[in-house]
Parts: sequence; C-alpha cells; structure tokens
Amino acid sequence: MKLLRLLFIFLSVPLFAQQGGMWIPSLLEGMNETEMKNLGMKMSAKDIYDVNNASLKDAVPHFNGGCTSEVISNQGLLLTNHHCGYSQIQSHSSLENDYLEDGFWALKLEDELPNPGVTATFIVRIEDVTNQVLTGVTAEMPEADKQRKIEENMAQIVQTSPKEAWQENRVRTFYEGNQYMLFVVETFKDIRLVGTPPSSIGKFGSDTDNWMWPRHTGDFALFRIYADKNNRPAEYSEDNVPYTPKHFLPISLDGVAENDFTLVFGFPGTTDEYLPSIAIEQVINTVNPARIAIRDAALTIQDEYMRADPKIKIQYASKFARIANYWKKWKGETLGLTKSNAVGIKKKQEKDLINQINKKGKQKDYGDLLPKFNQYYSEIEPYKLAREYFLEVVLRNVELLRTGYQAYQLKQVYENRGTQSFEDRRDNLVKRLEGHFKNYSKQVDKEVFEALIQIYSEGVNKQFLPDSFQNLNAEKLTNEVYANSALVNYEAAKNLFEGDAETVIEKLNNDPAFKVVEEMATAYFENVAPKYEELNLLISGLQRDYMKALLELSPKDARIFPNANSTLRVTYGKVAGYSPADAIYYEPVTHLEGVMQKYIPGDYEFNVPQKLIDLYEAKDFGPYAENGKMPVNFIGTNHTTGGNSGSPAIDAHGNLIGLNFDRVWEGTMSDYYYDPTLSRNIMVDIRYVLFIVDKYAGATNLIEEMKLVHPKKGKRGKKKKK
Ligand code: ARG
Ligand code: ASP
Repeated sequence: MKLLRLLFIFLSVPLFAQQGGMWIPSLLEGMNETEMKNLGMKMSAKDIYDVNNASLKDAVPHFNGGCTSEVISNQGLLLTNHHCGYSQIQSHSSLENDYLEDGFWALKLEDELPNPGVTATFIVRIEDVTNQVLTGVTAEMPEADKQRKIEENMAQIVQTSPKEAWQENRVRTFYEGNQYMLFVVETFKDIRLVGTPPSSIGKFGSDTDNWMWPRHTGDFALFRIYADKNNRPAEYSEDNVPYTPKHFLPISLDGVAENDFTLVFGFPGTTDEYLPSIAIEQVINTVNPARIAIRDAALTIQDEYMRADPKIKIQYASKFARIANYWKKWKGETLGLTKSNAVGIKKKQEKDLINQINKKGKQKDYGDLLPKFNQYYSEIEPYKLAREYFLEVVLRNVELLRTGYQAYQLKQVYENRGTQSFEDRRDNLVKRLEGHFKNYSKQVDKEVFEALIQIYSEGVNKQFLPDSFQNLNAEKLTNEVYANSALVNYEAAKNLFEGDAETVIEKLNNDPAFKVVEEMATAYFENVAPKYEELNLLISGLQRDYMKALLELSPKDARIFPNANSTLRVTYGKVAGYSPADAIYYEPVTHLEGVMQKYIPGDYEFNVPQKLIDLYEAKDFGPYAENGKMPVNFIGTNHTTGGNSGSPAIDAHGNLIGLNFDRVWEGTMSDYYYDPTLSRNIMVDIRYVLFIVDKYAGATNLIEEMKLVHPKKGKRGKKKKK
C-alpha cells in the first residue's frame, strides 16, 4: 500500500512537473521546447515564434486590449469568445433587433457590423532590453529614484527603437523588474462583427455554470479585421478591405483525446505567483471576503430587477455579467487556496529560500527579505482593505458614484490644469453620458447605492471615513441624493455640464451626489492613498528582490516563469480530467447530450434554442461529431488567467482544436498558486464552433473561408475538407 502510493507520487511528479507557467514566446528554445516535445508536440519553438518567417504568433492578436483572438482565414476572419465580444453584440442589440437573444450572422461582407474603438493588436517582434532599461540604476538609489530612472530609460527606448511608421514600441517589465522586453506591435482598428450565436448557446449556463465544470457553453463570436488598401492598420472606412494575415490557423477536425498535447497562446492579464504567504493569507481572510460581500449585495438587487423586466435585463446584461464574474471567481479562488494549502506551501518555499540564503552566504543581500515582507504586508493591510472598498463601491458597483467620480476628476482637472483641459475632459464625459443612460435604471442603481454605502460605512476603518459617514443614515441620504441629483437622468446631467468651467463647478458643488463622491474621494485621498502608495512602492521593491533571490538561488532546473502582464505568452499541457474532492472524478470532454440534460425550457440561463434541439434529435452533426456524439467543451492543464479568454488551443502540429474561455472553480487560485491536480482551463471544442456556424446558423460562407484539416487521420496532416 505504502509502496504503491510512493510509486504513484514518484510517477506523477515528472508528469505534472512539466506543467504550469506562462512563458515568453521568444524564449522557448531549450527547456520549454524539450518539455513540450516530451508532452507530444511535433512543432519546433520557431514554428511558434519566429521574427523572420510567419509563425503562430502572427495569427494571435490581442483583442481589444483585454481578450485574445485568432485569425482563422486568409481574409482576416477572427475568432474570440462570445463574452469578449459581448458589449459589442449588446451595443448592436435592441428590443427589436436582439442579437444577444437571437444571434447574428453576416452572410456577406456588406452585412458585417463596425465597432468603433475595438482593436486587434499583433506582436511583430520581441526583444530583451534589460540592460538598456537598467543603465544608470544602482542598488543604493532610493526606490522612487530607481523607478524614475527606469521610466526615463524606457521612454527613451520606446522613442528610438526602429519600427515602421504604423507600428508602436512598448516596453514591459518581467520578473518584477528583473527583466525588460520591447514589443513592436501593430494595431488594427476596423474590426467588424461577423457572427455570434444566441446567448442560449454562447452564454449557455450563464452565471450558474460560469467558472464551472462540467460545462456546455458555445462561448464564441466571429469578427473580421479590415485593413487599408496596403493591408495596413486604418481607422474604420467603407473602403477598407479584409486583412490578409501573415499566418492563419488551420482547423483540425480530428478532435481531442485525454493526454493529447495542447498549447494555449494568448495574452494573460495579471498573476501574482510569487507573493509571500502573508499576502496570500490576506487575500483569503481580508480582501476576498470584503469584495465578495459588496458584490453579493449589488448582484442580488440587479438580479431581482432583471428577472422582472426584459428591458432592464438587456440594459444590465453586460454590467451584471462583469460584476458576477469576479464575484464568483473570488469565491472559487478562496476555496482553491484553502484546499491546495497554498499558504503552507508558500511557507515551506520561504523556509527553503532562507536555507539557501544562509547556505550561499547571501544574508547581506537577502537576509531581511522575509521579515520585511511581514512588516510591510501587515502595515498595508488596513489601507489595502479601505482601498478595495473604495474601488468596489465608488468605481465599480454604484453607477451614480462612478459618474460622480468622473465629475470629481473633472473638477480636479480644472483646478490643476486649467480651462483647456477642463473643456476636453468635459466634452468626453458628456459624450459618454448618452451610452451610460441608455443602460441606466435609476431604481436599480438607487437600491444598490443604499446597500453599498451602508456596507462602506461599516466596513471601512472609522478613521478613514468622511465625517458625514460616521453616523450614516443610508436610507435618508439615498432618498435625498436620488431625488435631487442631476446625475440620475440624461437631460439633467447634460445641463449640469453646460456652461463655462466656473459655472459647471458651482453647479457640481451644489449637487448632492457630487457632494457624497467628493467627501468619499477626499477622505480616501487624504487618509488612505498616500500611505498605501508609500507601502506599496516598498513592497514592489521587496518583490523584485525576492524574485531576484529566487532566480539566483533556486535549483538550475526550477521552472520560474514571469507573472502575467498582458503580454503574449505560451502555456502548454495536455487534455486531462481532474478530481476536485473525494470520490469525484471529472472527465475532460462534454457533449451535446449534456446541454440537453441541463435544458430548462424558457429559463434565462438554461434555455436551448429549438433549432439546436432539432439538430440534436436528428443527430444532424455534419462532419463534426465523433462516434455519433457532438463534443462541446474540454479541459486541460494549461495555465491560463483572465485575458486568455479567446485564446486558441493548438494541437501538436499547430492546428486549432479549441477556444479557451474559462477555468474550473476549484482551480482559479492558479493566479497565486498553480496546482496541477486542481487547475484546469476550459475550452470550446472547435468542432462545436464549426457545427454551430455550419449546421445551426447555415453560415457556410464562413466555413468555406477556413482551412479544415485532419492531422490525426491524414499522414501528413494537411488534407482539405470536401
Ligand atoms: N469566467 C470567464 C472569464 O473570466 C467567463 C466570463 C463570462 N461569462 C459570464 N457568465 N460572466 O472571463
Ligand atoms: N474567462 C477569463 C477571460 O475572460 C479566462 C480565465 O480567467 O480563465 O479571460
């Protein structure tokens, strides 16, 4: 028995040891390439990233700065998630033309819908510029001076590094300031909506299933990149033409099996894999519970109204989804951190590091790292908590407070920078008001306001609160504000911002909502922000030194990968099920059967469109089924995070097999600690996408554009369908 278990541990270590991590695509040669090949990859590192030849990276643009997408035809056809295109789909929707409800398909180019402001950014080239960035930076400099020098150097590199006129240079930091990379990028600005399934497919299971496995969501939407006549980025114009990419992904019709190699290529946003144990404890005990409670309150109110009123349902769909998403994630994250004993594991790693520091005689460089961590993290805790409250209540969850905060910034701008800046900002603000009020319900927001300022006054340390919040009567204040503020309806709000700066400021000063925001903001910026910034800067310095110590003192083969920072990364693994609790084992692939098992007629989360039911009953799956069953989603051990949504899941040969969109609930702590037994990313099986486009929507024009291949069946792999 014991021996068996030992053997199991022994065998499973190397198997899992090669997983987790988000790697820089230009630095895969060596360890990563070897690992990927061991996992079954048949490509080389150069097939993934190459400066001189077309490679996979040329098919993977950042979608609108927050998601990932991939080019899947030589006419710029772009695949991403339904939830990544959600606000575009929503903004084209109305009660008469409800694309959220019914889906939308452009059967010819002229029908594709423009989306002003939406972008797709390609990476042209990546270069290590660490030495240039750190020139003139010495260990003795105070933190703030170091930062200033580094920023100067970065600006210099951005200005002077060679690039084409339509390209842009960006420098980003890796390993908490131990490495710097230059990215030359190209941003396309004419991105049109081509097709989307109805929400009953694209968002099937909605918030109940969000962050969950088993999952049955067709979370995809299609866009198209348009370029000018020279195939270069351009603002929207009727004269623009479909973009011809350097590379586009062929699509595999052969599906996935357990243990197949998978590579996910995309733009993960933020992770914090190298926090000390004390910081993880704060996430579990302080930060997450506060955020969750605030959103609990906001969501309960919105949900009630959305269920009762179809207009409010559309107005709040996108906002609700955004708030609910991280609310649920934080719950799963806390669960996973606890279950995986992340704190204990970090403590052990810290002990190991201390041993190394002592063994290598590095006490002078790194000896006080951990005591200082403990000191600064303890000191920052109350400020961090107050900051979370401010962000959640004022900036994220009460619409009136957010609008009020924009007015507050306008006043600041006037006082600090004068009339011209005021005018520019005011015009922008007024422009945004129309969109804001199109989706605004005063009644919903009023209830959210009342609940959240109550929570604010109870949760924030007394000495950080404005005077007026000391003995708050939330109901009275709410009634007063919503009866008298101009910021709760469009016409009044527009009027409020009319006139010269002095007049506007005077009107603002008399507006009851503005007064509340100004008091809250003033208290925050006087009592919380300065100390928070000060401690945070010290902590960043420590995190940098901690990272340096880890890089220097860890065993040679340690897999130390940089935190996500919204730059292009490769993560790889394999298709695998998981066991979240005793006696539960989840298989890695779901099927259309499961959609039907979850079907609740007319339900707002689990309805299924009739056409899909018909196709299911007729087993009319075209060439996309496997053994008579239609696969829907699958999971793997790829290490992903927010921003990886819409990322291509790629097979051993470089073909598209899936579309990343989520993670499993018990595994979302991978942002702090990747546990290979619990962390899984969730992908749409690409055959489900094809099935919906072809059989459900009848958009065969789009299927014709794609390159469908049979890598498992055909010897050389690149056989074309039909
Ligand atoms: N959890 C996924 C991600 O973080 C999908 C979110 C969209 N879906 C939703 N029901 N809110 O983005
Ligand atoms: N759903 C996330 C996204 O939108 C992906 C994740 O957090 O796993 O990027």
